[in-house]
Amino acid sequence: MTQYLAAPATGTATATGTPATGDRPGWWRDAVIYQVYPRSFADGNGDGMGDLAGIRSRLPYLAGLGVDAVWLSPFYASPQADAGYDVADYRAIDPMFGDLHDADALIRDAHDLGLRIIVDLVPNHSSDQHEWFQRALREGPGSPLRDRYHFRPGKGEHGEEPPNDWESIFGGPAWTRTKNPDGSHGEWYLHLFAPEQPDFNWNNQAVRDEFRSVLRFWLDMGVDGFRIDVAHGLVKADGLPDMGHGEQLKLLGNQVLPFFDQDGVHEIYRSWRKILEEYGGDRIGVAEAWTPSAERTALYLRPDELHQAFNFHYLNAEWDAAGLRQVIDESLDSMRPVGAATTWVLSNHDVVRHLTRLGGSADRARAATLLMLALPGSAYVYQGEELGLPEVLDLPDEVRQDPSFFKNNGQDGMRDGCRVPIPWTAEGPSYGFGTGGSWLPQPEQWAGLSIESQTGDPGSTLELYRRTLAVRRDHPDLGAGDAVEWLDAPEGVLAFRRGAFTCTVNTNAEPVELATVPGQALLSSGDYDGSGALPADTTVWWTA
Ligand code: GLC
Repeated sequence: MTQYLAAPATGTATATGTPATGDRPGWWRDAVIYQVYPRSFADGNGDGMGDLAGIRSRLPYLAGLGVDAVWLSPFYASPQADAGYDVADYRAIDPMFGDLHDADALIRDAHDLGLRIIVDLVPNHSSDQHEWFQRALREGPGSPLRDRYHFRPGKGEHGEEPPNDWESIFGGPAWTRTKNPDGSHGEWYLHLFAPEQPDFNWNNQAVRDEFRSVLRFWLDMGVDGFRIDVAHGLVKADGLPDMGHGEQLKLLGNQVLPFFDQDGVHEIYRSWRKILEEYGGDRIGVAEAWTPSAERTALYLRPDELHQAFNFHYLNAEWDAAGLRQVIDESLDSMRPVGAATTWVLSNHDVVRHLTRLGGSADRARAATLLMLALPGSAYVYQGEELGLPEVLDLPDEVRQDPSFFKNNGQDGMRDGCRVPIPWTAEGPSYGFGTGGSWLPQPEQWAGLSIESQTGDPGSTLELYRRTLAVRRDHPDLGAGDAVEWLDAPEGVLAFRRGAFTCTVNTNAEPVELATVPGQALLSSGDYDGSGALPADTTVWWTA
């Protein structure tokens, strides 16, 4: 076994002997959760596409990295019109990723290593190849099966215009016209994303029953929780009113829209919470909820709803001390009334990798990570960020697969650049991703960023993540609580206390002299030399 696969000395403990947070009640409150994007993590059968066998074989790496849980993006049976977020069968694995035996083995191995498994649930829409949608199409207008989706006659004399003015997040109208079984023009159906992703009608009882059953299916398989895709979108405003045309909408911004963040969604999560509790063992629901404000996000996390929500307000923050302080305070303040743990995230499969997004500097990306991991609550790490991978900006058009790339408005269409398979070794056909190629080309420079290349190099980003996660585990007070104590700091510097720790972040492009050195430097994201001067774009953790 190569060195990068080495597991910690005991399955559920780090090298220093601290139990994984996964063993503790309320484990999610300060958990570090690692996102695996199955296509791009590890390829077990050499076909150039990641799969469950590949993930399973590399679980020891994740246990050794020191994360508490793994969130897997969708692996269900899917035509892959949106990289698996178009599900044709919620109870089957896509053959490209393996089968249910592989899923079972993966979950068991993860648990043996002290890792929790969170799967992605996609309840806002199915694939257009889902049996329900295909039957609804076949049966034609008036069929009760059509009520499981949003079918509507078109506007205009011949029904040639969409039923309302809603736009797809991927660009273009959110409606597609069907053909009747006899070939004539038929009704339209709603899809907030690609046309291959028809939206479910959550006012239909069969839809509600089906998803409760799907939840149970995966809970019976042993999963520890669900990341809920488009959790804010399930319920649409009564009558599907127009959204009103304005300037180009930023659909993932903070507008109030008739198809997002409707109050009716909460009832659904209350019913799901009951199921999660029935199963015991601290299983969690995590909302992907784009809402107009942190206060609206907190509503999903009331004690009888979900456990966590991604903090997109934090992800969107710029590298600016005052702005970061504000979003940190707002995030913590908004969660306190509902008693939920705040989460922090810098990268995922939908956004430009944070190294590139924050300006392209590896120093800054590492400083941002060390700040995130010093904050109270739970943090999400996206595969490859621990290697300091940049966004791949020069993918040729012909290899791109992101459906939004093929539209000329809507989401930026550049999501393939963060989905390039990660490098494991310095050599080999796909840098150890698998024995074959890679479904998206990997830049040559990634050889030097591979897990193999960085392992054992104390100056590497990977070793920084390993050290930081080990310190976090050894000092549970770092992730605990719901507040930070801000300290006076020079312009462009954040300084705060967390229990016995102090964290200082210099967001300036120049070194800054600290008036007082806060203690003994424990970890530094850059080349801190022990003097009073904090280097540019550097975070340091101190102990008293
Ligand atoms: C979420 C997913 C994204 C997907 C969309 C539609 O935003 O994270 O990847 O395209 O939902 O399912």
